[in-house]
Amino acid sequence: MKGLQCSWRQCLSGLLLQLLLAICFFSYLRVSQDHPMGFPRTEASTSDVVTRTLHGSVGLASTPQPPAPQNLLILLWTWPFNKPVSLSRCSDLWPGTADCQITANRKVYQSADAVIVHHRDISYRPKAQLPPSPRPPGQRWVWFSMESPSHCSQLQALDGLFNLTMSYRSDSDIFTPYGWLMPRGDQPAAPPLNLSAKTGLVAWAVSNWREGSARVRYYKQLQLHLPVDVYGKGHRPLPRQGMQQHLARYKFYLAFENSQHPDYITEKLWKNALQAPAVPVVLGPSRSNYERFLPPDAFIHVDDFPSPQALAQHLLALDKDDARYLRFFRWRETLRVVSGSWALAFCKACWRLQEGPRYQTVASIAAWFT
Ligand SMILES: *[C@@H]1O[C@H](CO)[C@@H](O)[C@H](O)[C@H]1NC(C)=O
Ligand SMILES: *[C@@H]1O[C@H](CO)[C@@H](O)[C@H](O)[C@H]1NC(C)=O
Repeated sequence: MKGLQCSWRQCLSGLLLQLLLAICFFSYLRVSQDHPMGFPRTEASTSDVVTRTLHGSVGLASTPQPPAPQNLLILLWTWPFNKPVSLSRCSDLWPGTADCQITANRKVYQSADAVIVHHRDISYRPKAQLPPSPRPPGQRWVWFSMESPSHCSQLQALDGLFNLTMSYRSDSDIFTPYGWLMPRGDQPAAPPLNLSAKTGLVAWAVSNWREGSARVRYYKQLQLHLPVDVYGKGHRPLPRQGMQQHLARYKFYLAFENSQHPDYITEKLWKNALQAPAVPVVLGPSRSNYERFLPPDAFIHVDDFPSPQALAQHLLALDKDDARYLRFFRWRETLRVVSGSWALAFCKACWRLQEGPRYQTVASIAAWFT
């Protein structure tokens, strides 16, 4: 596991080097602008932000030669949350790569090159629910979670068992963010924002209302000073279909994370707010953490204000000032929003595992995943 111990500047220069190599590699592969990994095609179209989102991507960027194609067999020890998801042929997502055979059929355990273990599904009784030991020689185990450490119990039980980590954390061996930005490139420009379609002010969809959580406490203060339309269980019903169109009617969306951890920035930001689109008001990790993935003028952070009341005043002022409000949409002229998927996450694992089985073991997931 690579730590993120380097300073921001060292990281960035390292990334720029990786990026140069990546450009050679990708022009070699002649990949389309639209391939799913967030790599820009030309240096000129590369913003700082996009460069930084490269960090922790499958790591092919550091390999100027395409990896020898190997058709690895990857076993999903469980489907995520025990629910089957649709998978893609990895070579369809990114032409030029070899495919992996990805299956959730445990009968292939003895011959699988790698096993991906989705944490939640083994966390109740890890000793009993993990794959059997000893593992077949050379088989690599990948620990996978898109949930934050607040919702990952029993991590200590996993000491010394896994070879790679896979999560939304950018310093995972396999980085699977909930979403990211890509240069717009040849894609058509976003349609201009229709301000008269924005009939609501602030929306919030909350599936798991927990009294005393940071986000519920903040909301309770905020709604004293401006109206917030709350959706979810016990509140207004929100249709699963057409949810984004519905949220697009609001100027602002409260992208409040259920817990606060480095890089833990979920679909609440990427899908509910940025893709709708509505301007995200975020509560999660620090502003500087968000700025590793987003331009500073793409969102409003609760920490920018001394109190919920001050934030409310700011939102009300923006509501009356169209020019200032529209500035939150300017970055969209050059960048677009992409959200992740299970299928892509598993293909990222496929691509990373194809880099070859150099020896690697994760001493303690618990010590890292905090
Ligand atoms: C903008 O939205 C309003 C209200 O929904 C609608 O009547 C109008 O046709 C829209 N304009 C454009 C250019 O889409
Ligand atoms: C994977 O980790 C296990 C447990 O630490 C170790 O025995 C095995 O050699 C590792 N395999 C690779 C390919 O790194």
